[in-house]
Amino acid sequence: MTRHLDLALIGGTGLYKFPGLTHVERHAVDTPYGAPSDSIVTGNVGSRRIAFLARHGESHTIPPHRVDYRANVWALHHLGARRMVGVNAVGGIRADMGPRVRAVPDQIIDYTHGRLTSYCDVAGAEVRHIDFSEPYSAGLRKDLLAAAQRAGLAVVDGGCYGATQGPRLETRAEIARMRRDGCDLVGMTGMPEVALARELDLEYACLALVANWAAGCGPSTGSGQAPEISLPEIFANLEAATAEVPRIIASLLAV
Ligand code: HPA
Repeated sequence: MTRHLDLALIGGTGLYKFPGLTHVERHAVDTPYGAPSDSIVTGNVGSRRIAFLARHGESHTIPPHRVDYRANVWALHHLGARRMVGVNAVGGIRADMGPRVRAVPDQIIDYTHGRLTSYCDVAGAEVRHIDFSEPYSAGLRKDLLAAAQRAGLAVVDGGCYGATQGPRLETRAEIARMRRDGCDLVGMTGMPEVALARELDLEYACLALVANWAAGCGPSTGSGQAPEISLPEIFANLEAATAEVPRIIASLLAV
């Protein structure tokens, strides 16, 4: 079934539904790679049609390393999506990437392992070496940034997303290494989603929501050591950053 969709949205931690959709339909899509994380909801934002999928499932039961990224991206493409925004909770490494900051990264480094990262590793599939020098789509990044600006919401333009395996958070040494590598943000779900989108020739941009300072980052306590990362704090920050996502998406769709 392919029908025109203006956008696909993959919601991360804290974003399990897209509020205010009209003409809602649910699709249980089967794929050659398995089942997506949940059924996919299509619906209208004004006159535009979007598809929404909760990356971890609507009850958040799938950890980052168990997400079937191939099934998710394939299913959204199958429903007719050609542009995709991935919303990802992240930790902030760079000084201007503190809790509640929103960012649209322009680079990514993959530290994950053991994930199924390509549609090529199926018997008989054509082997494609996609160009990935610029992992995110320049056009969709620009449109997303402009949409946030029109909505009056601050979003940092650019940054390098370091994708870690999870589900545990990182050690201070791991984050120090990632900082030396040039990472500005750290999250567990940025890869292989964006690479799979490129393999299917989808436009893809990431809207990263900073939930916490990454390990050892941020303002230090009197002891000189950054405080431990507290889960309630993460969720409060995420809730605040996520609350504005529908406004940014509505603004993106309004042009
Ligand atoms: N590290 C990795 N992923 C995350 C973090 C973090 O500190 N915060 C939210 N997602």
